[in-house]
Amino acid sequence: MKKEMKPVHGVWASRWVFILAATGSAVGLGNIWKFPYITGDYGGGAFVLVYLACILIIGIPVMTAEIMLGRRGGMSPIHSMQALAKQAEAKKSWSLIGYMGALAGFFILSFYSVVAGWALYYVFKMPTAFAGATAESVGATFDGLLAAPYTLTAMHFVFMVMTMGVVAFGVNKGLERMVRIVMPLLFLLLAILLGYAATTGHFSDGLAFLFTFDFSKLTSEAVIVAMGHSFFTLSLGLGAIMAYGAYMPREMIVGGVKKPVSIGSTVLIIALLDTLVALVAGMAIFPIVFANGLEPSAGPGLMFVTLPLAFSAMPMGVLFGTLFFVLVVCAAWSSSISLGEPLVAWLVERSWNRVKASVLIGVLAFVLGMGSVWSFNIFAGAEYKLFDRTFFDLLEYLTTNIMLPLGGLLIAIYAGWVMKETHVRKELGMKNFKLYMVWRAVVRIFAPLAIAVVFLNALGVI
Ligand code: PFF
Repeated sequence: MKKEMKPVHGVWASRWVFILAATGSAVGLGNIWKFPYITGDYGGGAFVLVYLACILIIGIPVMTAEIMLGRRGGMSPIHSMQALAKQAEAKKSWSLIGYMGALAGFFILSFYSVVAGWALYYVFKMPTAFAGATAESVGATFDGLLAAPYTLTAMHFVFMVMTMGVVAFGVNKGLERMVRIVMPLLFLLLAILLGYAATTGHFSDGLAFLFTFDFSKLTSEAVIVAMGHSFFTLSLGLGAIMAYGAYMPREMIVGGVKKPVSIGSTVLIIALLDTLVALVAGMAIFPIVFANGLEPSAGPGLMFVTLPLAFSAMPMGVLFGTLFFVLVVCAAWSSSISLGEPLVAWLVERSWNRVKASVLIGVLAFVLGMGSVWSFNIFAGAEYKLFDRTFFDLLEYLTTNIMLPLGGLLIAIYAGWVMKETHVRKELGMKNFKLYMVWRAVVRIFAPLAIAVVFLNALGVI
């Protein structure tokens, strides 16, 4: 692989665009919808602490490694890993990282689109349905949605078309422009919602729930979910960030001078923004939960029952509520694009037309997503469950808690042990040697060990 090779898919216009796109990928349903509800399910503070620790000591180093591999490879994750393995004179089977990631991304895309479809439905529902809402009535609206396969299918379809539509036209043009507007707006609206939550009188209950560490509630299941979520929320372990890294320039002209684009500081910004959005979403949602006598462990419906309640009680709530769900959809959109991109980029490199490749992946993911649509209605019964989980639950568990951490484990091992150190150092360009050594120790030893321990613990081996 020649160094001067330009990715066939284009290059980000600047380091900031890369940060916005990667933050767009990271910030999504995982932060606003999933983080609050799994925190509720697993008992609050101690879970949050484990999640934060995973972000800091596994997520950030693995993200650095993943972007580094992508930038060095310069292609879709599958081809990048093949080329990198060749370059390092390592076994071809390392391209498994690319294949497994592509499969995980495809699985996630299928159910992610279904949940994003719920938010899409609320965009239409918000203006009319929640005047004078009560906890019971919003709960009934959500249950009604889940019981309606046709509505769910229509929303899932629209969202999938939106996603693959952008991928089809190339990430540069559509995505770059979109994230510049949407991300700042999302931050603004979260701040407004947080301001409202702070006035409910139950704000401190919400904070206590999130930040009081009761370790007696921490099970090995909670630890594996916290670790899985740290991968999911940072879009790690499946090649999405690797694909984005491939479009990241090595040098940028800043004020007329060529400067190297550092990976390390970029990763810190992305992780910080991502964590901030999750915590703010939690701080906004839990006070509303307690103020209305709802259960924190309400499951996947948590966001969909608390937020309409909050908005219906707020001045200009219809406007803010509608806008909020528009932004949730946009946040999900800028994430789902990064799920579709690695597979489409791979097909394009195999001489496929980008539009055709996007249609194919979109159709396949839509079809698989129907399993998730039916998990909430037709196939919700116990007779359709495996290990007491629906198809949706199983797919979510398999990808988030197994495939992503496994992908992260392999990426860390590859970056730490297989890739030539001269290449690693050159690609990372870290000036601070001590910091580099810390990163290296983490990807070589600490991160793989930590992931392995959590796995073995969850399997009951240790
Ligand atoms: N990080 C996204 C979220 O938190 O919603 C989900 C996601 C996107 C996971 C892209 C994985 C990925 F590759």
